[in-house]
Amino acid sequence: MTDLRDIVRIEDPRFYLDDPFPVFARMRAEEPVFYYEPLDTFVLTKHEDIRYVNRTPEVFSNAHGIFLNDVKYQPVDGDTPTVTDSFFPADGEQIGTTDPPRHHELRRVISPAFSARALELMDAEIRQYSQELVDAITPGQTTDWMELAGILPIRIGSLLIGLPDADRAQVRHWSDELEKLGGDLTMEELQAAAKEFSTLRDYIMANFATKRHDPGHDLLSTLLAAELDDRKVSEANVVMFAMTMIAAGSDTTRALLAGMVWALAKHPDQLAKLVADRSLIPSAIEEALRWVTPARAFLRTAMEDTEIRGQKIRSGQHVYLMYMAGNRDEDIFPNPETFDVSRAENELQMAFGIGTHVCIGARLVRQEAGILLNTLLDRYPRFELAAEPVPVIHIIRNSWENMPVLFHS
Ligand code: HEM
Repeated sequence: MTDLRDIVRIEDPRFYLDDPFPVFARMRAEEPVFYYEPLDTFVLTKHEDIRYVNRTPEVFSNAHGIFLNDVKYQPVDGDTPTVTDSFFPADGEQIGTTDPPRHHELRRVISPAFSARALELMDAEIRQYSQELVDAITPGQTTDWMELAGILPIRIGSLLIGLPDADRAQVRHWSDELEKLGGDLTMEELQAAAKEFSTLRDYIMANFATKRHDPGHDLLSTLLAAELDDRKVSEANVVMFAMTMIAAGSDTTRALLAGMVWALAKHPDQLAKLVADRSLIPSAIEEALRWVTPARAFLRTAMEDTEIRGQKIRSGQHVYLMYMAGNRDEDIFPNPETFDVSRAENELQMAFGIGTHVCIGARLVRQEAGILLNTLLDRYPRFELAAEPVPVIHIIRNSWENMPVLFHS
């Protein structure tokens, strides 16, 4: 049998396109803490180990970068920002790359914008936007579902942040630039994308005056009134939080909204089951999250010498949490390669991460995906792929360039 060392290529985007799941199954069985020498990084593929690392932030830090490119393009000195940091203002704090206890303080400040009450207030708009999206489908004609579904996260993200709906095309452009972070680009290309993304800062700040004058329940209003370190949250941090939401929430959600239709189209028996019993929709969304895992993996850095499953890891070495592999772990999900909308254990899926940095947008995503799927099935209980969708070539994003779908009423 081929040596795993000859086939595991975590920094090569094509590795993920060539059905990596049998390779992950072998890694879980043969070497669950797999040493990837080129990047001095241990790849974790077991659900249990990924959980453990995420619940042990005192040993495994986020502060040294969370993307593989942060290791690939290591800063040469202490003053150079990591690739991730170069996309964001230097004077703001980035929740995703902050460790506790500070991480906890940052998270407390933004949490009200994601409360059950705040999300309830967004419900009517989510329904309206979903209806508009479904209205835009022409039955029996090929629809690029990727393009269409992509409108929803931008509109809802803008609503959450408190940005005018009319600016959504521009917001989408920034979101597209940001997607390049973590992509297979040269350092120069990454820097150009970072520069373009940074213009989002001025746009966000231009909305401050309106929000101070006429606050709503959105993130900007919440943050401009909130306190951190016994004083008002700095403008740099408000900008940073808003940029982070666009960065973290747009492409990931689009991949899920597209991916759930893709998975159902590929499994017509599961679609029929869902149409017959809509109470399965929340469960189907968890299964789609498990199946797609829109953000494949994230990085941590060991802050002290430690070990996992007896494998020694030195301080400064990295671990790569392969969420897409944890989501197919046979110890957690029996028959992991079966797409099953009524799977009993699918709430254990880890597409939103787990533990300290678990996705703060998870509840919003579930609400949005549920409303969209229900609205779609009301009108179109049958759909099929018109052609195979073109996958995005990227080491982190599991997504598609397009997704031609035929919807039938
Ligand atoms: C299907 C859609 C989404 C997926 C699959 C997803 C996935 C993830 C994952 C895996 C993490 C943890 C990263 C890590 O382990 O280092 C995360 C964190 C995060 N996500 Fe999401 N996300 C989605 C949507 C959203 C949305 C809609 C928002 C906000 C509007 C959002 C905001 C965040 C933030 C702020 C964090 C960092 C949390 C922290 O560090 O405490 N995400 N997301």
